[in-house]
Amino acid sequence: MGMKILSIETSCDETGICILTSHTPDSVEISGNALASQIDLHAQYGGVFPAMAKREHTEKILPLTIEALSQANLLVQEKSELSEIQKQHIRDICTRDTVLADYLIDFFSSYKKPDIDYIACTVGPGLEPALWVGVNTAKSFATIWNIPLIPINHMEGHIVTAVIQKTTGENFIFTNLALPALALLVSGGHTELVLVENIGHYTKIGQTRDDAVGEAFDKIARMLGLAYPGGPKVSKLAKEFRASGTTQPFILPRPMMHTQDYDFSFSGIKTAMLYTIRDLTEQNTRELTDEEKSALACAFEDAAIEVLIKKTMRAVAEHHIQTLIIGGGVAGNTYLKEQLTLATNKAGITLLTPEQWLATDNAVMIGLAATLQVLSGNIHTPELSTIRADGNMTL
Ligand code: KG4
Ligand code: ZN
Repeated sequence: MGMKILSIETSCDETGICILTSHTPDSVEISGNALASQIDLHAQYGGVFPAMAKREHTEKILPLTIEALSQANLLVQEKSELSEIQKQHIRDICTRDTVLADYLIDFFSSYKKPDIDYIACTVGPGLEPALWVGVNTAKSFATIWNIPLIPINHMEGHIVTAVIQKTTGENFIFTNLALPALALLVSGGHTELVLVENIGHYTKIGQTRDDAVGEAFDKIARMLGLAYPGGPKVSKLAKEFRASGTTQPFILPRPMMHTQDYDFSFSGIKTAMLYTIRDLTEQNTRELTDEEKSALACAFEDAAIEVLIKKTMRAVAEHHIQTLIIGGGVAGNTYLKEQLTLATNKAGITLLTPEQWLATDNAVMIGLAATLQVLSGNIHTPELSTIRADGNMTL
């Protein structure tokens, strides 16, 4: 019936559970997928609060597991008390989270072990309190159901979501990658250039020295009075401005665009934006007009994306890259994709982008990374007690 993996993602503000089934070595089917976003909750505060994120993950993770298993026809109700030893295992795993332990004990007492071959979960990078909810749940599943747990780096998940192509319905085939590849990972927490010698073999060659590009989009959005997460909203205003054909009155800096490394910096653009707005509104004594907001959004997007593209294409040339992969929430940005399409066409290399709905955080990406490990035989299932959440994990 194929190899089945249940995957868990809780690194930031999305709780995701996915069931992937692989019938052949080059294909995968999304048999179940459940996602709960905390965006509305965090929008009120303008950002993600770790303690609140943790509580939300704890409330959502088992209802989402039930939903995903049910979609995959793997959910079987069966009342059976856990033994005292099993309950103690769960409490030991969830040391600092008695609420989660109680939910898990209740879950295992209500449903039969599903027909799953592996558990996979994000272990980092991300918000540690949030990550622990997924890690503790994954360890409990692995212990009570007695199946292996594959720990996954969230950034690898963002890379592999671009190497699948849809065939029919929920079925995908893995793309044959021309190597070496380069991944530009752009999200709310990360801006990185990663050399991909092969799937599973990565070397980070550059990263942001301050804000992540998604974070910069979110901060600019706030200055323009747009709600969190502001990336898509800033991008929409920028697009409207470009379509209007108006001459751009504002030019923002392109920090580090010509430095001889592959690092980035976005805090300078943000500061320049702050000063530009202050001057324009006479020390903030008046509101920005809608026209000014669109022009500023466009000036920001132009600056941020030009820096991303210049550095990425320099790495492409210097490392003889055959395939460029983009991943992370900002990979959903239309202007970035348009500009990268032009640049990669000119360079004669392949550009792989994730489907829009897979660009932001989800559990499919974690299941895909685990599936590729199993299918390649290069599988990593460490002793459960050694698996830990690590907020600063790198590739
Ligand atoms: O990968 P992701 O879902 O979460 C993290 O791991 O951070 O990325 C979320 C980030 C947010 O900062 C959001 O504003 C940004 O991605 N984002 C965008 C777009 N869609 C999402 N930024 C620019 N343009 C977009 N279309
Ligand atoms: Zn992410």
